[in-house]
Amino acid sequence: MQDLERIVADALAQFAQAADSAELERIKAGYLGREGVLTIQLKGLGKLPAEDRREVGARINAAKVAIETALNDRREGIERAQLEARLAEESIDVTLPGRGRERGGIHPVIRTWQRIEGIFRSIGFDVADGPEIETDWYNFTALNNPLNHPARSMQDTFYIEDKDANGLHLLLRTHTSPMQVRYARTHTPPIKVIAPGRTYRVDSDATHSPMFHQVEGLWIDEHISFADLKGVYTDFLRRFFETDALEVRFRPSYFPFTEPSAEIDMAFQTGPSQGRWLEISGSGQVHPQVIRNFGLDPERYVGFAFGSGLERLTMLRYGIDDLRLFFEGDLRFLRQFA
Ligand code: FA5
Ligand code: MG
Repeated sequence: MQDLERIVADALAQFAQAADSAELERIKAGYLGREGVLTIQLKGLGKLPAEDRREVGARINAAKVAIETALNDRREGIERAQLEARLAEESIDVTLPGRGRERGGIHPVIRTWQRIEGIFRSIGFDVADGPEIETDWYNFTALNNPLNHPARSMQDTFYIEDKDANGLHLLLRTHTSPMQVRYARTHTPPIKVIAPGRTYRVDSDATHSPMFHQVEGLWIDEHISFADLKGVYTDFLRRFFETDALEVRFRPSYFPFTEPSAEIDMAFQTGPSQGRWLEISGSGQVHPQVIRNFGLDPERYVGFAFGSGLERLTMLRYGIDDLRLFFEGDLRFLRQFA
């Protein structure tokens, strides 16, 4: 029989040198496994004379306990060392210089949006916000659009699968005009509001984008006339462009929800685009049927509405000739406005 003390000492020395748990388990098998040194010793007990078995068995068991204890200690030691190594590797050096954060800027179209809000608030207009997913009724019917109006066609309007309570497809609003109806039905005259926001059309070229911005304006009271529209809008343009050197033209046009209707064009009297007329807005006296759809009496209440393109106003203000620049996210373009 081998000297048990030497076996235990050897085992302990080998455990101490094991580099990782796989090696440790391999060493363990050499002592406690099926062919392990201690296992063989235990198996040999049967060949001993009966009077020796008890004492030798107890000694072998003591050796086994000593080896198992050492094994467990070493297992824990290896795990602890691994954890410490990982912590050291993943630790954060708080003394390193930071990565820095770039300063963002306000998008030029949003600058226009903010400027418009400021100007209209200063003359007593409220600012309202509403849904971009609209019902057919608010976007078309309430605005006096006949059922066969071309704007309702798939070529112009993004429809979505879901239907409204009337069984009609919901849609992405094609203009901010439904906000006239939403606001007027929940407020009492005098109604004086602008509603800036995103709008959508199946449209895409250098001056048309599938997503764009409009601002709706609405002023309804007992004596609001087309002359008020001309005054308010001309004054707005002069303040927006910070110059009196611009001309404004109200060109007869057609919208189902206004009568009479006009396109608003403007031309600068100085600068590179001097004298060139540019369409910036639709407008008109709100149609009596629409006033009725507001829940108001058209015999008593009158007023005007306009709907202007924010991209168009932004392009004119900064001299930008391609509207797609607004949506490409090119930092070289956007940084110029930061
Ligand atoms: C309308 O959308 C009417 N709702 C305007 C209105 C409001 C008239 C209230 C009367 C009373 P129009 O389709 O012309 O009208 O659009 C108004 C402005 O939105 C245009 O002058 C243009 O500046 C802008 N616009 C229209 N489509 C696009 C587009 N695809 N991309 C960028 N801007 C657009
Ligand atoms: Mg138009």
